[in-house]
Amino acid sequence: MAFGIIGGTGLYEIGEAGWEPITVTTPFGAVTAYAGTISGREAVFLPRHGREHSLLPHQVNYRANLVALQMLHCDRVIAFNAVGALRASLPVGSLCLAAQFLDFTCGRPRSLFEPPDYPPRHVDMTEPYCEELRAHLAAAAEALGMGPTQEVVYVCTEGPRFETAAEIRMFGLLGGDVVGMTGVPEVVFAREAGLCYASICVVTNPAAGVEPEHRLSAQEVTALIDAKRRDLIRLLEEAVVRIPPERSCRCPSS
Ligand code: HPA
Repeated sequence: MAFGIIGGTGLYEIGEAGWEPITVTTPFGAVTAYAGTISGREAVFLPRHGREHSLLPHQVNYRANLVALQMLHCDRVIAFNAVGALRASLPVGSLCLAAQFLDFTCGRPRSLFEPPDYPPRHVDMTEPYCEELRAHLAAAAEALGMGPTQEVVYVCTEGPRFETAAEIRMFGLLGGDVVGMTGVPEVVFAREAGLCYASICVVTNPAAGVEPEHRLSAQEVTALIDAKRRDLIRLLEEAVVRIPPERSCRCPSS
């Protein structure tokens, strides 16, 4: 088994040399990922937006990505997601872990379970993220002095535009904590594929209207991730050594 690592905005490679490109053909299309090791454990890195950030959130082939990771024997997936914070208690630069999501995407594929490759099925989504993986990530962050990591409700919008201030107020009333454009349907396809999935959310900005004078830009998102890159990789390295080889969660049988 290997770890699948999905890099978000600003995270197009991890580590230095030694990651071998590997192309997989899935029923949903071909995917190029990079095989290597993290803390001595096998890993596959997949830059969600492509190495040159050529894919906007609604253009990402989430189904092919998750099936490719499954075909490469990644039974655990750790994803990075840049997010805007709906609450002042989540400052820019802080890390949090997604525990639930609210799906406001539209027009994206909904399921892997499409004939002829997959028979139709419904999966349980009560706990969409792997609790075991999340606990190890939280412990690793704590050990590195990057914690405590709050568990958050992730609101996923369709993008690629940022939200209006009114939308953000509504998401806050509905129980959302952070907002991003890529967490869904990625987490859904991980569950459908029987993979464990955790999302490390990196707060890159206050969400629209949270600070009334603030205006959002893609540049502030990438600048914050650039500043955090070393920390994010250290967190991965620390988490991976803590995770036992065998899974004892419910994800494989969902
Ligand atoms: N909204 C949506 N997606 C994002 C944001 C945001 O404020 N910040 C980073 N990704």
